[in-house]
Amino acid sequence: YNVAVVLAGGTGQRMGLEIPKQLVKIAGKPIMQHTLQVFQSAPQIDEIVVAMTPGFTAEAEAIVASSGCTKVSRVIEGGATRTETTMRAIEAVGATSPEANVLFHDAVRPFIDHRVIEDCVTALERYEAVDVAIPSADTIIRVDDYGGTVIKDVPRRDLLRRGQTPQCFRLSTIRDAYALALADPDFTGGKVTATDDCSVVLRYLPDVPIVVVPGSEQNMKVTHPVDVFLADKLFQLSSQAPPPSPEDHGGYESRLTGKTVVIFG
Ligand code: CTP
Repeated sequence: YNVAVVLAGGTGQRMGLEIPKQLVKIAGKPIMQHTLQVFQSAPQIDEIVVAMTPGFTAEAEAIVASSGCTKVSRVIEGGATRTETTMRAIEAVGATSPEANVLFHDAVRPFIDHRVIEDCVTALERYEAVDVAIPSADTIIRVDDYGGTVIKDVPRRDLLRRGQTPQCFRLSTIRDAYALALADPDFTGGKVTATDDCSVVLRYLPDVPIVVVPGSEQNMKVTHPVDVFLADKLFQLSSQAPPPSPEDHGGYESRLTGKTVVIFG
């Protein structure tokens, strides 16, 4: 039994709008509606739980009702941090389906696709914890803890990945990890912070392997204002049928391969 938890409890400070960014419309629909519809139409998903920013649950319920997302069993209020939102969702799912698998997904990643969901669910048949990640095109540097102005380390890029979502777990595993975290004064005191759930399993259940499923370059997180523009473009491209012809987009013949190269512009 696979439950998708759509995490929509944030306020989108970096986006800087009056409404949470998951309610911003892209290609005519709120971002979180696109996300919900992907899980609604994924055959592996049995139930969806939405965790929404306090004060905006009515908006979330209206989106669920108008978009025919019948798998959504409830809209709960999120917490002050992503971690708190996750813990509330664990409690909510545990109350009705203690044996479930849970797939935590950022509401603001509307380009999640069925291939990734299927791979995650397949991986959960053998593993208790699954992450989704892609290689990094950028070199990642580690900086000092005092303002980040000096490089401390340049880890090997081939060993680095950019974490995406969903992050998926047997419910009992993620529940145990958070129970241990809540018993750790460093965690409750804020000395250890988690921006994702796999890091909580890694820290508190170090013997549990967390398997990595390849994500996709499109599965971006809408974070900054420019991402709304980029996401809009991506939706235009994905909904265009037939695909744009090379002439329309300044295609040219590659001197390297002889093939036609298309530049979307
Ligand atoms: N999230 C959540 N509850 C929170 C904070 C975040 O459910 N208290 C969710 C967001 O709604 C988002 C996902 O976690 O779908 C990823 O977080 P992020 O992109 O950081 O979202 P925000 O916290 O809304 O953005 P910002 O950090 O810019 O305020």
